[in-house]
Amino acid sequence: MNRLIKYALLLLVTLAVLDCAKENSASSTVDDLKLLNAKTATSDWLTYGLNYSEDRHSPLTQINKSNVSELGLAWSINLGTRRGLESTPLVHEGIMYFTGTWSKVYAVDVRKGEIIWTYDPEVPKEWGEKVCCDVVNRGVALYEDKVYLGTLDGRLICVDAKTGDMNWEKITVDQSKPYSITGAPRIVKGKVIIGNGGADLGVRGYVTAYDAITGDQSWRFYVVPGDPNEPFESDAMEEAAKTWTGEWWKYGGGGTAWDAMAYDPELNQLYIGTGNGAPWNRDVRSPGGGDNLYLSSIVSLNPDDGELLWHYQTTPGDSWDYTATQHIILADLDIEGKTKKALMQAPKNGFFYVLDRTNGELISAEPYVYTNWAKEIDMQTGRPIETQFARYPNMNSQISPNAGGAHNWQPMAYNDKTGLVYIPAREGGMFYGQPKEWEYIDDSRSWNTASSFNEENDTHNDSIAGRNFGKLIAWNPITQEEEWSVWQKSSWNAGVLTTDDLVFQGNAEGEFSAYDAYTGDTLWSYSLKTGIVASPISYEVDGVQYVSILVGWGGVMGLYSKFTEQINPGTLYTFALGKNEPMPNFPEAIEKKLIDLSFDATHEEIQHGASLFGRYCRTCHGGGAIPNLAFSSGEVFSTFQQIVGKGTLLGLGMPNFGDRLSVKDIEDIKNYILSDAKVRRENAAE
Ligand code: HEC
Repeated sequence: MNRLIKYALLLLVTLAVLDCAKENSASSTVDDLKLLNAKTATSDWLTYGLNYSEDRHSPLTQINKSNVSELGLAWSINLGTRRGLESTPLVHEGIMYFTGTWSKVYAVDVRKGEIIWTYDPEVPKEWGEKVCCDVVNRGVALYEDKVYLGTLDGRLICVDAKTGDMNWEKITVDQSKPYSITGAPRIVKGKVIIGNGGADLGVRGYVTAYDAITGDQSWRFYVVPGDPNEPFESDAMEEAAKTWTGEWWKYGGGGTAWDAMAYDPELNQLYIGTGNGAPWNRDVRSPGGGDNLYLSSIVSLNPDDGELLWHYQTTPGDSWDYTATQHIILADLDIEGKTKKALMQAPKNGFFYVLDRTNGELISAEPYVYTNWAKEIDMQTGRPIETQFARYPNMNSQISPNAGGAHNWQPMAYNDKTGLVYIPAREGGMFYGQPKEWEYIDDSRSWNTASSFNEENDTHNDSIAGRNFGKLIAWNPITQEEEWSVWQKSSWNAGVLTTDDLVFQGNAEGEFSAYDAYTGDTLWSYSLKTGIVASPISYEVDGVQYVSILVGWGGVMGLYSKFTEQINPGTLYTFALGKNEPMPNFPEAIEKKLIDLSFDATHEEIQHGASLFGRYCRTCHGGGAIPNLAFSSGEVFSTFQQIVGKGTLLGLGMPNFGDRLSVKDIEDIKNYILSDAKVRRENAAE
């Protein structure tokens, strides 16, 4: 045989063997190596933020600027859910895993667009009242042949990826307290890391690591100190306690780590974003002042034992619900001729931070929206220079950003090709004031902000802070300047994905769009008819690149507002080039009318009903994802006592108020709603 042919044959055999090895590894499970390589070598979407850097920059390029206009619907699945869908789906070898409302998990065959299995952790519906921000969940983690999820009632559950059968579950919180889990677990070196939420209702935050296989607890990092009369759990807590005054532990203290995590394998550092103070107002929580570590901070932990390595507090002595739980992205940035291992965050407080992730030193910080609580960040100390009205002393101050933040949980994305970070930002302020009197409500179902408008105090108005809208911002993290932005009607829009030279985002009006990553020009837009809050993902199966997104209106602002004619059931949509499937058929919007029923009640009774409504009902019945009761039917009002006082709609998540409200109270609330509808009808007629 000719030598050349011999070599060619050998090469072919080698290629075939390699190809076979590729096939074999392709059918394997999600191991540490796959997670480590997720940044460059994957057509899958294996972890919440796509990779350990959490940049949400898909390396796929089949869909790009030149052809994105040909993107069409490949398939959709109506999940039949109501309320918010915030999950980022994960995809491994053609199978997609995501969570829906009430922490339910779905596995979907991407090739067929069909559900393979669902797993329902059967969260007690009473939990719907123990959460600040809807019965949402942001996603699962994958490891080996298992799927991990945190549930609304604080459990960590491991299910089999093939069958959806439960392997084990751990209760991660004291279930007598208003803890909840809405964030996605992350996998680091064989451990599942999970945080929790609930600071607004009054709990003490922490993150816990469990062995991914056995479920045994490995370590726990508390974010804020407990009762200092008890032994401290760690040196970090002993240090932190020096920055607190008063009796904060009675109110929980807060600092719940309910969303952001990122990991640097080279440095072996795990980064966690921590939450706001409980209650919000520091004058009440820690009356002698203090920074209240580690609230509103980025903490770096050793993932092997949970020890604190460094911290950077974005909002010392938080008094505004300025969480630093917002999405964290790791990137290597060229700053003044040097490559910096950077960590980037756009927390609620309105400043974009670039830190050195090796040690937590501040590289730069500039406001990315209008902010009036702090003038700037002092580069010497790394601390904000607060304005005089920021802490609302003896005045009601209109502060921007508001408690919803300049950026909430909706993930941002970083594209290293354009060098830009795409932030789903929010512009708007709100009034904060010292309460006339404050009483801690310890019923696990009430917000404890200790901040409220007080008529006796002066008012500091700020017309710019009075505006309210959303903004997709393309931010240059090196110059700390906006490159372009797209303004949005609502301040509550969706998370972001970047691929090649594109940026994908949905909005409150149900438009799912692709923008030119360099200029912000709209290149493609598709009406999904229901407000969108979740982040899209992109992945490849059998050589085809897909874009998928969950659509289900809700989340904290979604309960108060809506920007589409109707809110359709939660649906998963998947797009690919050249596809053109029709939108699913949803029932036509029924035009809702204000209720017109006679009622018999005194002015005092209606006032009493209004105040009970404000305390017990408004958080949910704001007129968004949950109905505005002024538009309910006559039938609803004839069964009002049973619905509210006997729990007949508990299955839909409507709490039973029988333990708190008397028959008379409920009658007063009903009459208040009917009288409110009457006023609105009269106003509309004018
Ligand atoms: C934790 C959230 C939550 C709170 C708080 C809440 N509700 Fe509800 N309520 C719901 C949900 C969810 C539904 C079912 C909505 C649906 O049909 O999807 C509902 C439905 C209802 C309905 C039936 C409406 C209709 O048109 O079908 C009435 C009446 C009602 N609630 C009254 C009240 C009153 C009065 C209060 C305060 C005392 C209250 N709710 C507080 C979540 C809440």
